[in-house]
Amino acid sequence: MTERSIRPRRLRSTPAMRRLVAETRLHPADLVLPMFVREGISEPQEIGSMPGVVHHSIDSLKHAVEAAAEAGIGGVMLFGVPEHKDAIGSGATDPDGILNAGARAAVDAAGDAIVVQTDLCLDEFTDHGHCGVLDALGRVDNEATLERYAEMALVQAASGAQILGLSGMMDGQTAVVREALEGAGFVDTAILAYAAKYASAYYGPFREAVNSSLVGDRRTYQMDAANRREGMLEVEIDIAEGADIVMVKPAGSYLDVLADVASQSPVPVWAYQVSGEYAMIEAAAANGWIDRERAIDESVLAIKRAGADVVLTYWAMELAQRLSNTGLRA
Ligand code: PBG
Repeated sequence: MTERSIRPRRLRSTPAMRRLVAETRLHPADLVLPMFVREGISEPQEIGSMPGVVHHSIDSLKHAVEAAAEAGIGGVMLFGVPEHKDAIGSGATDPDGILNAGARAAVDAAGDAIVVQTDLCLDEFTDHGHCGVLDALGRVDNEATLERYAEMALVQAASGAQILGLSGMMDGQTAVVREALEGAGFVDTAILAYAAKYASAYYGPFREAVNSSLVGDRRTYQMDAANRREGMLEVEIDIAEGADIVMVKPAGSYLDVLADVASQSPVPVWAYQVSGEYAMIEAAAANGWIDRERAIDESVLAIKRAGADVVLTYWAMELAQRLSNTGLRA
């Protein structure tokens, strides 16, 4: 045996061989499709900054959730786009508010075949666009916001959401929501804590998607992109407070944080491939600068390789359809 007999290329020699030795695979059940449901529309509407993604009416949402279940996707994550906003985000706790009505419709359409989840955050519902309520000086008030989150949790759980996505980055949010759920008997409602959520420019297209009225930024509550160790701290806190699942977000630019979390977390670790990650590939592909399908597959595979058990991606439907053609792909 000489060193020359060591040839890693052997296992790359044919498509069948490469498929056999692949360390990471995508599967439709490992994907969650984020969806927007908008009040006051009767037809789906394209979102300009996210080509291929729409605002759903309640009706079109139902069909899309059915289709997602049919495609074998693991879950849907619903975001609401209300017609009216106010300082405390009243629409978020109105049982007939668009997100809660959307959750009921989604559960009704396919709740046995797919896990219906709701975003638990106030930014879509507040006129100032922040994820919480403001104090007299205009700062995001952590404790007052927690009270609103607890109310939201109960309304969302009552609407049938099986997992609540706590994306607001307030301190103590997981504990407060867990306590509220337990107190009201919603012992089976799971909490997905957006534990390591960074203040990111990659949320840009999403802000258009939810007609965000935010002026300024979210840097007093979302994490600083410079910090890796702190990602683990946030995860530990959320797990101690009762999170069933933890999230790292965004995904592609935070694979180091994701790998850290995946190596240490005793609960499932999910990652959110956000709107900007989607828009960049779509835009480059539209210009003919990148191979769209290969870039999509590679971007999502990399997130799984780094350690995500599940990936939230706006390409979930397309990927599920592509993955169901089980034959070899070049
Ligand atoms: C907050 C929330 C945001 C996203 C998901 N939940 C926006 C923000 O924090 O500003 C962004 C998702 C994306 O960009 O795809 N409710």
